[in-house]
Amino acid sequence: MKVSIANELTEVDALAVICFEAGDQATSDPELARQDGWLAELRASGEFTGKLYEAVTLYRPQGISAKRLIVIGGGKQGTFSPVELRRIAGVLVRSVRGKGVKSIALSLDQKYVSSGLTAAAAEGALLANWEPDRYKSEPKKNEMRVDFFTVVGENAAATAEALDKGRIIAEGQNFARDLVNEPGNKLTPAVLAEQARGMAAARGLECEVLDSDAMETLGMGALLGVAQGSTNPPFLIVLKYRPEKAMGSEHLTLVGKGVTFDTGGVSIKSADGMEKMKYDMAGAAAAIGAMQAIAQLKPAISVTAYVPTVENAVGGNAQRPGDIVTTLSGKTVEVLNTDAEGRLILADAITYAKRNGATHIVDAATLTGAIAIALGHYNVGAFTNNQALLDKLLKAAGVAGEKVWQLPMDDEYKDYLKSVFADLPNVGGRYGGAITAAWFLKEFADPTPWVHLDIASTAWLDDAKPWLAKGPSGVAVRSFVELACAWSGAN
Ligand code: BES
Ligand code: MN
Ligand code: ZN
Repeated sequence: MKVSIANELTEVDALAVICFEAGDQATSDPELARQDGWLAELRASGEFTGKLYEAVTLYRPQGISAKRLIVIGGGKQGTFSPVELRRIAGVLVRSVRGKGVKSIALSLDQKYVSSGLTAAAAEGALLANWEPDRYKSEPKKNEMRVDFFTVVGENAAATAEALDKGRIIAEGQNFARDLVNEPGNKLTPAVLAEQARGMAAARGLECEVLDSDAMETLGMGALLGVAQGSTNPPFLIVLKYRPEKAMGSEHLTLVGKGVTFDTGGVSIKSADGMEKMKYDMAGAAAAIGAMQAIAQLKPAISVTAYVPTVENAVGGNAQRPGDIVTTLSGKTVEVLNTDAEGRLILADAITYAKRNGATHIVDAATLTGAIAIALGHYNVGAFTNNQALLDKLLKAAGVAGEKVWQLPMDDEYKDYLKSVFADLPNVGGRYGGAITAAWFLKEFADPTPWVHLDIASTAWLDDAKPWLAKGPSGVAVRSFVELACAWSGAN
């Protein structure tokens, strides 16, 4: 799919316009707004109220050359922002997908053309066009052109740059979704490492991959303990972006949980819904997808991604409940539950990142089912040992249109993590499961400023949204990229 800015309205299969709720009578098209008899009639019919993301298609409306006019609800004009426009562009694409429409123009008044809005529109359109159908014999092809029709005047260069930024970010996010969509038999840790290596080579990033011998030598007992139940060997993928001129000595570090399939291990999961555990590498995919975008957007800060990747399987050599492993940090962990494997591999990756110069760490992990109980499916759960870093992340997430909600990390929660036989157990009790998981990670991240994002309930959509397909959401990519870009002031 191609997205572009059009200064002139050319022949298109569908012209689209945003209309706000009654009372906010305007449309996003100044020309159409002037002759809004059609809109008044449409509203009077009750078929369209302007409610956010509502979509109606009119055929051959009088006075309009396009065959279709798609009217999309913009909600309240006063609160209209890039967040809404991103989804509206998505609703538009998905409302015509598979209907033979080859070209769309979304008409936007100049007042809806800023860098933020333009980037969001491009993102929304490209994200909406993604489908998880690559293993269908006949994947749906959707080669459409989406123009954002507007008069940009003197801001043309900035607008074009914003469009490009949106495209680059959406491509990074769609790459992450492609990786998450791969089933466990196709995407093993070795294949994930190959994918990362290929991306790095294409985008000019440095890539190192540690194999199990290297990790053995280093002493990554926690990561290797998880991996030993699978015949698919584990890896630690390291992707490095170095700017030509760094602004300071800060070193942003992304860490992503890369469990290519999580059976639970000996503490095996129930069969119901286990097939979804192919998405247990969504944090890894987010880090890799973000690095692809960062390589192209070139912020003035060093960024390194660490991706520990394993399969949590139940082979004869699988670790048992009660096993004690020695982490890279030297701390010992009693593995009370082999299904709490994510924190084990992250502990070693975080320690390794610290040893290699990380000054600020942000991890993304499908870490706990408990985060869905706490926050439902709309907010990513965030935890930190450093409020200033989390505030930066929250700000970036706001710009990126990803919802993130902070959860507490009071010292009292640490009391849930007590082991008689080792320094730490890998699970707390029944309560505050997402928090005890975060506390476990904090024991390894301290004192380095660190943020943990639990994306277990947001990385997978059980149902399609009007602007996004069912399946992998690609969450955290946009926040990661925005964080890196905002850090350096580059936009
Ligand atoms: N990968 C799961 C968490 C998860 C659950 C992700 C549901 C996506 C959807 C993680 O490895 C896990 O199994 N966590 C356990 C922890 C428990 C044993 C303390 C959980 O949440 O049940
Ligand atoms: Mn698990
Ligand atoms: Zn897991």
